[in-house]
Amino acid sequence: MSQESAPIPIQPAEGKLGILLVGLGAVTTTFVAGVEAIKQGLAQPIGSLTQMGTIRLGKRTDNRAPAIKDFVPLASLNDLVFGAWDIFPDTAFDAALHAGVLERPLVMQLKSELSELAPMAAVFDQHYVKRLAGTHVKQGANKMDLAEQLMKDIANFKRENGCSRLVMVWAASTEIFLDIADVHQDLTSFENAMRANDENIAPSMIYAYAALKSGVPFINGAPNLTVDTPALTHLATQNRLPVCGKDFKTGQTLLKTIVAPGLKARLLGLNGWFSTNILGNRDGEVLDDPESFRTKEESKLSALEYILQPHLYPALYSDITHTVRINYYPPRGDNKEGWDNIDIFGWLGYPMQIKINFLCRDSILAAPLVLDLALFVDLAQRAGMGGIQEWLSFYFKSPMTAPGLYPEHDLTIQQMKLKNTLRHLQGEELITHLGLEYYD
Ligand SMILES: NC(=O)c1ccc[n+]([C@@H]2O[C@H](COP(=O)([O-])OP(=O)(O)OC[C@H]3O[C@@H](n4cnc5c(N)ncnc54)[C@H](O)[C@@H]3O)[C@@H](O)[C@H]2O)c1
Repeated sequence: MSQESAPIPIQPAEGKLGILLVGLGAVTTTFVAGVEAIKQGLAQPIGSLTQMGTIRLGKRTDNRAPAIKDFVPLASLNDLVFGAWDIFPDTAFDAALHAGVLERPLVMQLKSELSELAPMAAVFDQHYVKRLAGTHVKQGANKMDLAEQLMKDIANFKRENGCSRLVMVWAASTEIFLDIADVHQDLTSFENAMRANDENIAPSMIYAYAALKSGVPFINGAPNLTVDTPALTHLATQNRLPVCGKDFKTGQTLLKTIVAPGLKARLLGLNGWFSTNILGNRDGEVLDDPESFRTKEESKLSALEYILQPHLYPALYSDITHTVRINYYPPRGDNKEGWDNIDIFGWLGYPMQIKINFLCRDSILAAPLVLDLALFVDLAQRAGMGGIQEWLSFYFKSPMTAPGLYPEHDLTIQQMKLKNTLRHLQGEELITHLGLEYYD
């Protein structure tokens, strides 16, 4: 049975796409510098599905595998413009040098482009990020007033840069852990809470609210709740604005969501998974605070439970010790080292161990995700897809889903979902991998 359907009408990617970055730190400066380097032919967009990925169409025997960027209408790198907010006034040039991710000669080559990107004053409150004290911060009568100031920034940026569309990406520091409270349940309560300076409204939520009120889709790269509340997801659905999150899936969790589905596919049991990291950048410093770490821990711990489904496989996965640690260790800077010790068991219960030692570069892994998410969310917006974009789970440690739906963490399934969504948008047959027709 063919699963082709009519293509979904998608508005063309005409004009400039403004990418508004909350936080001008290690991830975002590596992203902006990378896009400029790629545009100038100094480097390749490695790690980016939108720039390097292909998509198979039709039967395997058809040999149709166009580049994704030729298959769906994405904004071109030449049409991107960047804006940012940060609690420090450093331009992207100074911030990139401070972050120390990219080598100095490359940053120097991009000096003029990076120096042009100066952050706007941020909405910040140290209550939510204990380890930082900002100087470049907005003052306001209350949280609604701050949101209105952000809305003005957004409108000015759009006008001054002649953008036809905008997207906003939260890649600022991880805030303290907050649970969903009554004030997050509906928009009226949320807005009243903003006016009353309620503690349950974190700065990241003020940015998300300002974006959605300005007609701008929102991407959450950190584990904070941010847009993942009934009030704001409802606002996004109502205004047909795409939203997605949470927490870019980069180093250790990326590997976890590659390895764990494989162990489960082979019905190998698990006794324990101990993950530890040393990290020396500003993110590591912020996560050294127990309240910010708790937000990250929740995000990192959930993947394994969802992938292994202990309720369906009690003999294999009902008694697992899963521990995640992050230690701030300045000498390593952005070059994180992650260790995983995995205690598994096989036939007749015989134990085995797997050790993974990942010497990764956090922001090098995260930068292409920012690019892909900005371009795909803009595509979703032009295709009229509002609300939670579950098809972008591929990029997140803690994917947002519709209420009552468990998140899909398996990287391969996430990739299939993403590519099938693109096929669906263009009216191509969905690929089920059944393949019986080859043997008829
Ligand atoms: N690098 C990765 O692999 C990765 C993966 C998943 C999630 N993340 C998350 O992405 C975020 C950014 O990571 P990073 O390594 O770039 O950190 P970073 O510390 O280098 O950058 C964060 C920036 O945000 C700024 N900031 C903090 N609060 C702000 C606010 N309210 N408004 C505007 N700016 C604010 C800080 O001053 C800093 O410049 C973190 O929350 C991190 O946990 C990173």
